[in-house]
Parts: sequence; C-alpha cells; structure tokens
Amino acid sequence: MNSLSTAHLDTVSDTPTRPAHALPAWVYNHPELTRLEIERILKPSWQIVCHVNSIPKPGDYETLDLGPESVLVLRDRDGSIRGYHNVCRHRGARLLDGSGNCPATITCPYHGWSYRHDGSLIGVPMRDSFPGLDRAAHGLRPVRVDTALGFVFVCLAGDPTPVAKTWGRLAEELAAYRLDEMVPLGPISTDVWNVDWKIAMDNYLESYHVPIGHPGLYRMFTPDYDDTATVPGVARGVSWMREQPSSRWSERLYQKLIGRAATHLPEAERRCWRFYSALPNLGIDVFPDQMDFFQLLPAGPGKCMVRGTTFGLPGTSRELRAVRFLTNRINTQVNNEDKWLCARVQRGLASSSYTPGPLSRLERYMLEFHDLLRARIPEFRLASAPTQFAAALSRD
Ligand code: FES
Ligand SMILES: [Fe+2]
Repeated sequence: MNSLSTAHLDTVSDTPTRPAHALPAWVYNHPELTRLEIERILKPSWQIVCHVNSIPKPGDYETLDLGPESVLVLRDRDGSIRGYHNVCRHRGARLLDGSGNCPATITCPYHGWSYRHDGSLIGVPMRDSFPGLDRAAHGLRPVRVDTALGFVFVCLAGDPTPVAKTWGRLAEELAAYRLDEMVPLGPISTDVWNVDWKIAMDNYLESYHVPIGHPGLYRMFTPDYDDTATVPGVARGVSWMREQPSSRWSERLYQKLIGRAATHLPEAERRCWRFYSALPNLGIDVFPDQMDFFQLLPAGPGKCMVRGTTFGLPGTSRELRAVRFLTNRINTQVNNEDKWLCARVQRGLASSSYTPGPLSRLERYMLEFHDLLRARIPEFRLASAPTQFAAALSRD
C-alpha cells in the first residue's frame, strides 16, 4: 500500500500518466467489478465483526455477511474468541444469523449437525446412515481473527498486516479513551444507501466537503483539512470544538456539558472529535463521550450497506447521558447529510456528460484508496468498462 504522505502527491502532479483526477464513473456501478472488489479488496482485509464486549460470555456470537461469504465469531469457554465460516459442513446451510448465544453447541437448523465452540463436529443425527464419516475432517472452517482497538476483526483471504501494526501510533494516541473497556450502547445496525461503497468511502476520506455539506458540524468544530499525522492505510481527521458558543441550543448545551461528562480524558481531549478512515472500507469515530465504527459493504452495484454501532465506557452520569444524546443528534444529522450527498454523486455519475474531475490536494487520501483499487484490479485504469475482465492479478 502506498503511503499517505504528501511526497506521494508530488509524484501524482509530476507524472502525466497519473493525473490527480477522480475515478471514471463506470467503476461506481458495475456488477463484475463489485464481485472483484469483494474478492481482491475486501476479503483480503481486516473486517470488524463486533466489539470484544459485544460477545462477553461463553457461547456469545455475532455474524458478518460480506458478499456471498458469512462469518461468525464466538466466545469460547476459555475466554478466547474464535472465528468460523458460518456454513454447515453437511450441505452448506447457513448456521447462525445476527447475534445471540449458543450455550453448548452450534447446531445447524437443517439436519441438526452440531459443532463445539472449538469448531469440531460433535453431533450427527442418524450417525449410522453415514458409513465411514470422518468427524474430525468435518469441523467448521476457521477464519483468521485479530483483536485491536477493542474490536474483533476477521480476514477471509490473504495475509494482511495485523491491525495494531497498521494503526501504529494512531492506536497509541487512543489509549486514554480505553476503547477495549467500552461496551455496546446498542445493537449493530445496518442501513442501505443507494450509493456504491466506494463513493461512501471517498466521502469519508476527505474533509473538504465539511463547511458546505455539514453546516452544523462546521458551526461547532474546526474542520481538519490537512492532517499529516496519518499512517499508511489510515487517514485521520481531528476537529476541535470552537470556543464560541453555537447559535443552536443543542449544540450550545453540548459545548457546555462535554467538559464535565468526559472526566476520564485529559482536558484538551474533551474538546476533540477524532475521525479515522481505514482502507478499504472502515470508519472509526472517537468522541469524548463515546465512539462508533461503521463499515461500508457492497450490496450490489450502486448500493451499499452501512453497518455499525456506538460504544461507551460502562457507568453513566446525567451529564454523560445528555451528552451522548446530543452527540447522536449531531451525528444523525451529519450521517443524513452524507447519505444525501453521496446519493447525489451516484446519480450524477450516471450522466453521459460526466468526465472525471480534478482532485484537490485536500482529497489526497482518496488517491491512496484509488491507488489500492488500481493495484488490485487493473481495470480501474480504463476510461470505460471493458467487455471482459482479466482473470489474473497483474502487477502495479
Ligand atoms: S446442512 Fe447442516 S445439518 Fe444438513
Ligand atoms: Fe461528510
């Protein structure tokens, strides 16, 4: 993956073959490309399934669907977190949905094959009707699991860098927030946007749209246009609450209460909103009173599922409850604005008149994302959709 450093920009402006322009419109609405993106971009990356405290007790599980794949993570009796393909080894039925608890075994709803928490096949109804069945060879297929920043990640292909290593010092700067001690403030929710997942990711990789697109947020916080303290693969935006009281009551109340609600943080951090966007499809927002994650999952060409929820430290005060209410109020508004803006891009890209426009220096993190797309799927370089896609990966 290329660095997010500004040196990378110079290369872009000096090299006529790599102009700093947006991607061609066709890449945001193409079924074969969506399939390739799942195979080459999303499966070989770390995907959040849930928080470590979403599954605190033995047998607790959470599932994640990614294109045709489905994964479950589960808390084993020894406290470890295990991950499996959510697919029965008999005739392939999906085993679990959503989240819940399997106290003893994971049992298939079709013919009742059952699996221990460690994935081994323990029960086969009508066992005698399967002469020679090797139970040991029919355990659940494991998937790689990583825990970092309080989250449980899985990876379905390849060998990506461990999450904590990629985040590096960005994880260190989050230590005071105690992300791994947080608990879910609600179940994981999903929302379908009429937007290709890459349009949504492009949106979260730049703050250039904040003053115009998010007037409420801009009234309260300084936008961070030009943060250079990023690491390769993770863009960071840090916004500071303005001293001047907002003209809106809810925003003014937030400004007044936040200092008293987040006493676990150093004084300065109580006025700070942190936005992290990790390639290829993850956002983690860290506020003084809570944090959230959101994940952009393809739901067909031109559509995506935004999956996520919020988390906070256990225990609560009146101030904290009020501040969380206000944070959610502001974020709901920002989220609706982003959804609306991104849908307008999706619709605009369908016009035959559109040709890729120039990108600002402030949109440079998008370029790193687009470089990743071009490296893994060379067809991203083409001005129009090919009639046939190359079968193999070519080198960048
Ligand atoms: S498909 Fe699971 S038991 Fe038959
Ligand atoms: Fe936005």
